[in-house]
Amino acid sequence: MMKSGDAQEGRTLYRHPYPSPGLAAEYPFVTYDHQRIDDTTMRQRSEAFQASANRRRSVRMFSSHPVPLDLIESAVGTASTAPSGAHKQPWTFVAVSDPVLKSKIRKSAEAEEHENYLKNRMNAEWQEALAPLGTDHHKEFLEVAPWLVVLFAQRYEVLDDGSTRKNYYVKESVGMAAGLFVAAIHEMGLATLPHTPSPMAFLRTVLNRPNHERPFVMFPVGHPLPGTRVPDLARKTLDEVLVVVDSAEADVLNS
Ligand SMILES: Cc1cc2nc3c(=O)[nH]c(=O)nc-3n(C[C@H](O)[C@H](O)[C@H](O)COP(=O)(O)O)c2cc1C
Repeated sequence: MMKSGDAQEGRTLYRHPYPSPGLAAEYPFVTYDHQRIDDTTMRQRSEAFQASANRRRSVRMFSSHPVPLDLIESAVGTASTAPSGAHKQPWTFVAVSDPVLKSKIRKSAEAEEHENYLKNRMNAEWQEALAPLGTDHHKEFLEVAPWLVVLFAQRYEVLDDGSTRKNYYVKESVGMAAGLFVAAIHEMGLATLPHTPSPMAFLRTVLNRPNHERPFVMFPVGHPLPGTRVPDLARKTLDEVLVVVDSAEADVLNS
């Protein structure tokens, strides 16, 4: 429930409250369910989340140990809470466990990656960037992992009557859903790898998806193979990725 102090704060800060009375009359609005917590508690929660995120690694050797469908459903449910342009939610997740389909996907992916790695479809600079990861055209994990979750981006929306509507900021929106999917899989104790055996048009054919869906990224999901090795990568430091602009600096930037 909103306290009277909150209403006062709102009146002090905003001359144009959201939603405007006209909007509120036209569309349903609800009060955001949020409890303000203190800085110390937020710091503890944030540090715990960051420590967990920092333990996540992309894995390229999965165990074949089964993973129940409800865990995949839960991760997709989390991913699907992502913000999206105009709330269009322009994503479809296709979860595959069937060995025949997984085998088809592996074959097609390896054919594309064979071109990429061995026929120089990836230029020298790209190959150089990939070298420390130790990847090549072999993608056995696509058959071994119990699940392949293929994320499709909906280029536009198709309504029940067949008419179409524009989607907005599709890549940005689907990218956010992908990030949440990766986080959800990691938080539940499983592993994944964002895999893009490009070009990925074969995924639309193999999985029989409609024309307006474009493969965005594929996620093998499972338990990591015990003892699997990952490249010893360093993440950028905060100094390298964060620029905090205070007003004085902003003045300099603008002058
Ligand atoms: C959009 C995207 C596409 C990727 N495609 C591939 C891929 O096709 N094959 C692969 O082995 N790794 C792929 N990766 C995984 C990256 O190589 C990996 O995230 C990066 O090396 C950092 O390692 P980490 O995920 O363990 O932090 C991809 C990652 C992203 C975000």
